[in-house]
Amino acid sequence: MILLLGASGYIGEAFTAELRKRNWDHRSIPRSEADYTRFTSLLELLRSLRPSFLINAAGFTGKPNVDACESQKAETLFGNALLPQSIAQACEVAGVPWGHISSGCIYNGGKILHDGQERIETDLTRPELQGLLTGRREQVRGFAETDTPNFSFRHPPCSFYSGSKALGEEAMTGIGRSYVWRLRIPFDAHDGARNYLSKIQRYAKVYDNANSLSHRGDFVKACLDLWERRAPFGTYNLTNPGFVTTRQVIQRVQDILKPRREFEFWTDDEEFYRLAAKTPRSNCILETGKLRETGVVMRTVDEALEDSLRHWRPEAPQNFSPAHGSLSPA
Ligand SMILES: NC(=O)c1ccc[n+]([C@@H]2O[C@H](COP(=O)([O-])OP(=O)(O)OC[C@H]3O[C@@H](n4cnc5c(N)ncnc54)[C@H](OP(=O)(O)O)[C@@H]3O)[C@@H](O)[C@H]2O)c1
Repeated sequence: MILLLGASGYIGEAFTAELRKRNWDHRSIPRSEADYTRFTSLLELLRSLRPSFLINAAGFTGKPNVDACESQKAETLFGNALLPQSIAQACEVAGVPWGHISSGCIYNGGKILHDGQERIETDLTRPELQGLLTGRREQVRGFAETDTPNFSFRHPPCSFYSGSKALGEEAMTGIGRSYVWRLRIPFDAHDGARNYLSKIQRYAKVYDNANSLSHRGDFVKACLDLWERRAPFGTYNLTNPGFVTTRQVIQRVQDILKPRREFEFWTDDEEFYRLAAKTPRSNCILETGKLRETGVVMRTVDEALEDSLRHWRPEAPQNFSPAHGSLSPA
């Protein structure tokens, strides 16, 4: 049996759907039933239920967006750093292997190949790089799992959310047998306040940058595939291979969904941070070669975006509840 923590969340519900589809025996425990954030109650739970694997999809994301983490620092640290360490220790004591949802937001930028040398570029919006992002893409590389996070408390500046996610990875390192699954900007065909494709269609103004993205369903499938084939434990970047700029995503939205609105972009970072965001945002490209070597396949980001938009299930405006987020920049 697989024990799922955080099943009520945006990512947790996708795990439930995929576990059901696979007919894998699983059980979800809400915090209200057993407070798994306490070491002793989680250990008791593990000893009584004896799961073969645990998935931690619980964490603190900040509502309506990561800016909220700046004013809820205790909750952010508790959910993203203390919780994974406590789960790691309980799982080690009980001998249960497990997987933790981390984030690619602990990096900023990408790597540029120039004269056979790679250099880290933290600002991919620089005008001289636009030709690389739209044309000579083979000269753009992402961060690999072996790269030290460069958007963290140890490498500021960072948002408090990103700092807490990087600390969470660090806090569980070397304890027991676990996967760290890095998710980045989830999207799929289901219109909703947490879906990146919904957000960019509803922002008053759009922020342009280059990013790797994760199709929500592809992400949870890849997590379960890694466990199913008993891939080596460790950290995996689970984004759909490749990267896109926001302008490229908007172009696909216009081509496929043909919305009756024009899209306006923030002029530059200065305007965006002055008027729309409180804390620095991570924008980054991730490498996915380590996942590929395990034999687990995620389709390219272009394919996943195309598929999501072709099968788009719009939500009626009156049903578009911002309960899990808002229309302000994530
Ligand atoms: N969504 C994204 O854009 C994104 C991107 C990258 C990484 N991630 C990571 O993916 C994981 C799941 O995110 P999500 O978007 O599914 O989050 P979510 O929708 O806000 O759900 C959070 C889940 O965590 C549980 N939880 C347990 N302890 C918590 C605590 N101390 N504070 C808040 N919630 C707590 C909640 O349970 P209750 O029902 O009991 O409140 C809920 O089930 C998080 O670790 C997040 O950092 C998310």
